[in-house]
Amino acid sequence: MCPVTDAPDREYTDDYPEKTLYIPGPTEVREDVIEEMAQPMFGHRMDRMTDLYTTIVEDTKDFLDTDNEVIILTGSGTEFWEASTLNLVDEKILVPTCGSFSERHANVAERLGKDVDRLEYEWGEAIKPEDVREAIEESDNEYDVVASVMNESSTGVRNPIEEIGDVVAEYPDTYFVVDAVSALGGDYVDIDEHNIDVIFTSTQKAFAMPPGLAICVVSSEAYEREIEKDSASWYGGFQRCLDYYDRKGQTHSTPAIPIMLAYRKQMKHMLEEGHHARDERHREMTEYVHEWAREHFDLFAEEGYRSQTVSCIENTQGIDVAATIEEVSAEYDMVFSNGYGSQLGEKTFRIGHMGEHDLESIRELTEAIEDVAGL
Ligand SMILES: Cc1ncc(COP(=O)(O)O)c(C=O)c1O
Repeated sequence: MCPVTDAPDREYTDDYPEKTLYIPGPTEVREDVIEEMAQPMFGHRMDRMTDLYTTIVEDTKDFLDTDNEVIILTGSGTEFWEASTLNLVDEKILVPTCGSFSERHANVAERLGKDVDRLEYEWGEAIKPEDVREAIEESDNEYDVVASVMNESSTGVRNPIEEIGDVVAEYPDTYFVVDAVSALGGDYVDIDEHNIDVIFTSTQKAFAMPPGLAICVVSSEAYEREIEKDSASWYGGFQRCLDYYDRKGQTHSTPAIPIMLAYRKQMKHMLEEGHHARDERHREMTEYVHEWAREHFDLFAEEGYRSQTVSCIENTQGIDVAATIEEVSAEYDMVFSNGYGSQLGEKTFRIGHMGEHDLESIRELTEAIEDVAGL
């Protein structure tokens, strides 16, 4: 039975002040990218659609510097937790868990009826490649997939996915899936060099686009692997998506066309800046935020494994995190995030320094926090 709601009628208003976003996504979107969405609609089987979709797919390959295939699908990153599991896992999957999002990935695989082994880490710790090797060896090399989160957005950990990829490469029957939501586009990764079969993200994070699309990069081995299976995902089937692209240069179903228009514009900006320069800008912001955090608080994530796009700051001063966020929002029209869930809610807070932010805009936020929290 549907739950009955007795909520009073609400009148919707757009009368909200604009806020600058420093949350771990969605993040700030350039004005000209937003404007791109306000165009008359066209059909998803028209030539214009083929031009648009092939442009954004090929530009994404260029930007990510990969020879693998690219799928851009209406949905969010979550879609590829499901699709990659359905497409590649017959029975067993190893999911190293080190926070909320990696735990959710394991949970998705369980719901899909897969035999899930977790390699569990304390929140704040990073996944270690040698532990992954040990787990694979202990299982008698039975995993179809090892699935690792690149950036654990709940704890600010950046896992060494390059080294984990090199370990998984020693086991040719095991595929390596990386959840790079909140990292890709702001933290350089050489996808082809490190045997990453599947890596995905969402548009609203370090790509700095509106939410609504998921981006997935797929190796030819992962594509082939799926063909052997008849229980693959329909919507996120690598074969269906990529074959359709090959034949028609379009998506298999009606996509979120306005977001794709925004994507095309933003990808031009990203190509102009370049992946390495974008990575460098994010590194500078990270160094600044880390220095600031060490001066006033501490960092939650294990040293040596800290994210380049989301900093999780340990609230060593016992500030009222919720009240500080509210006041910074009210006085400065800037929004940052509390710690993740009840576990880290007041114990930490998070700053998203990704997408189109730069040193200057990040400094504006830290100054606002200093002012409000009396640091
Ligand atoms: C690491 C990570 N994985 C997956 C997701 C889910 O992404 P989406 O909300 O785009 O489905 C998020 C969202 O914040 C995330 O941070």
